[in-house]
Amino acid sequence: MHSVRNLAECKIEPDARFNLIEGVNASGKTSFLEAIYLISQVKSFRTHRINHIIQYKKPELQVVAKYQDHTEYTHVIGLSRSRSTTKIHLNKQVINLSSKLAALVPIQVITPESHRLLEDGPKYRRQFIDWGVFHVEHGFLQTWKDYHRTLRQRNAALRQNQSKQQIQSWDQPLTEVTQKFHQARVEYIDALAPIVKSYTEQLFGEVVSLEYLSGWPKGEGFTEALEKSYEQDCQFRHTRVGPHRADLSMKSNGITVQVGLSRGQQKLLVCALRLAQIQYLQHLSQQSCIILVDDLPAELDKAHRDRLMALLDETDAQIFVTTTDAKLLAVNPQTSKKVFHVEHGKIKEVVY
Ligand SMILES: Nc1ncnc2c1ncn2[C@@H]1O[C@H](COP(=O)(O)OP(=O)(O)OP(=O)(O)O)[C@@H](O)[C@H]1O
Ligand SMILES: [Mg+2]
Repeated sequence: MHSVRNLAECKIEPDARFNLIEGVNASGKTSFLEAIYLISQVKSFRTHRINHIIQYKKPELQVVAKYQDHTEYTHVIGLSRSRSTTKIHLNKQVINLSSKLAALVPIQVITPESHRLLEDGPKYRRQFIDWGVFHVEHGFLQTWKDYHRTLRQRNAALRQNQSKQQIQSWDQPLTEVTQKFHQARVEYIDALAPIVKSYTEQLFGEVVSLEYLSGWPKGEGFTEALEKSYEQDCQFRHTRVGPHRADLSMKSNGITVQVGLSRGQQKLLVCALRLAQIQYLQHLSQQSCIILVDDLPAELDKAHRDRLMALLDETDAQIFVTTTDAKLLAVNPQTSKKVFHVEHGKIKEVVY
């Protein structure tokens, strides 16, 4: 790769299982994880502005990766990004759809800001659910797009003050696609819940239950909710019920986790949620996954750090963990691993 943030041009061969990236503050650890993330998501987990990732005064960044999938086929992925355009190559062919890469390389990130998944708006929890459904159910991306297109059309009718008949002509197509969309999310959460429960018990000894909130009042069908919402929809000029208003409620001992769990527990819960997604995906499809953990020791005591490291180790994913102090992290001696040292943007493998 070259011209990614402060990183010097480099070529590295990470371990297929465990990689520890050590370096002082501002050495380039998070930047290195960003480069890996780019290969799957064509964006950063730190900023919406991909231009910020291009090294100052450089015209474009480039990352090339070899990626072995579960059939042991090695794909070559190339990504270059100038301040105005992104070019993606997959196995020497230009591709226009970044969702192809996302589907090929499932990636999860755990950062010190991870607990924001709980604190920020429901949009982030919907994204969490949809990441999972996207990877386990073919056709979900199409359902997602169909739903949002139909919703946009109904909202446009509301904005333009069209007649009741014109607005409600969208209700039938919206209801049809909602059924599919809703069903896929419900099934996914049902399957994920017991795995999350097991992870939270192991990580911090509490049971966390998940409940999918559909985006319309409990006990009502969507058609009924849509009809009831008509007056308000006209007033606010957008559709106020539906899967775009869904959320994921999480409780521990009957109390919502946002108020009932400590900050450290909330971080561990987010780790449990992400690990559960990886485990479920690998259980269904044996797909190779990547987990990026930025600054793992942040705010976790030794016992919890060790437990998290052990659970990361139990997954079949390829793992990248950054830290300012490798001594704080206990890696199972049996696990195949590599250690990389980052200094002023230079990444070097540490050979013992
Ligand atoms: N576009 C850019 N071009 C060049 N350098 C950049 C760019 N964006 C950020 N930097 C610099 O890159 C350096 C490395 O940042 P990075 O966040 O990767 O460090 P880090 O090792 O993760 O540090 P910490 O331990 O504090 O999290 C910082 O000094 C930052 O100012
Ligand atoms: Mg960092």
